[in-house]
Amino acid sequence: MKKEKICVFRMNTKIIYGHNAIENISTYIRELKGTNVLIVTDQGVKKAGIVKRLVRLLEEENINYTIYDEVVANPPIQVVEKGVELAKETSIDLIITIGGGSSIDVGKGINILLTNGGDIKDYTGIEKVGQPTLPLIAIPTTCGTGSEVTWSTVITDPKEQFKFAVLSSQNIPEVAIIDPTIMISLPPKLIASTGMDALTHAIEAYVSVKAQPFSDALAIYAIDLISSNLRKAVFYQDNLEYVGKMAIASTMAGAAFTNGFLGLVHAMSHTLGGVFDIPHGIANAILLPYVMKFNMIAAPCKFAKIAEVMGENIKGLNMLEAAEKSLNAVVKLSTDIGIPNNLKEVGMDPGMIEKLAADSMRSGNVLTNPRKNTIDDIKTLFRKAYEGKL
Ligand SMILES: [Fe+2]
Repeated sequence: MKKEKICVFRMNTKIIYGHNAIENISTYIRELKGTNVLIVTDQGVKKAGIVKRLVRLLEEENINYTIYDEVVANPPIQVVEKGVELAKETSIDLIITIGGGSSIDVGKGINILLTNGGDIKDYTGIEKVGQPTLPLIAIPTTCGTGSEVTWSTVITDPKEQFKFAVLSSQNIPEVAIIDPTIMISLPPKLIASTGMDALTHAIEAYVSVKAQPFSDALAIYAIDLISSNLRKAVFYQDNLEYVGKMAIASTMAGAAFTNGFLGLVHAMSHTLGGVFDIPHGIANAILLPYVMKFNMIAAPCKFAKIAEVMGENIKGLNMLEAAEKSLNAVVKLSTDIGIPNNLKEVGMDPGMIEKLAADSMRSGNVLTNPRKNTIDDIKTLFRKAYEGKL
């Protein structure tokens, strides 16, 4: 009899979902005994008036706050360190991150350094954070990151042009507030790219060598929700129903990958994001079909299931034929929402493929990819994705 592997499923975050769920934030702050809050965000979220809405809610309840609004995409180490300096001046006891994946990741980084000291790079890898961190409430304003429920934070080292990941139970937010009313009116391009990031999380977690029944359930349902709602969320971005479904899918995909892990797409996209200014979701969306094609023979049943869930007709097909249909479904979705099909178009320099492949091999995501791979496989994948030759 085949020995079953032991699986661990972490889900420590209280998830609050609903239209205007943010209005009750003071309740969750009080539950976590917060009195002096650091708000971590970026300029875009601030300009959209979302921070103003949050601040009004805190002021109504006499909760002290300090705003750190200097988060940028692919955030470098210095952005985390600057936030720590500000937090130290104000002796905060709770962090609220409000924004996309970068804001949530920076909030997690600030939290680690405030409570554990040192250099954020020292915590690269799995469970290196020794001391408990402050309570953290994550409020995503995009529907893709999943960071509101994950144990990871990804920060860029500009000197090395490399993104490193800190995976720790201490990173998992205590509360995630998923409120579609703060996500409507997002630019369609942002919904498209972050939605494809969520799809990549779900697919990579579902086919990973660490996939397990609990994460599979979340991943496959997230894939279903994304394939039925992403197009509509992009084209009717003011529709709360579609954006809400994408928000749910994104959080589920986050919970799936924090337990089922990721694969080559993220190993390669993090590397790309460290060197070029390519949005994370766009890099994932372009790389996803190339990596799926490479991985197909390692998990044909699972790819066939993805095809079926994404609406492909797999009746009468053998397993591999059905699996290949998943590729059609993903490419069609990506094309429909206006994502390029090659890395040339988004400014990748092919002269960097050697570095990109070597850096990708440093990622832990390489080890959980369903098909064993070498540096030459990764170079070939980068080359194909650059040229758009699937
Ligand atoms: Fe991602």
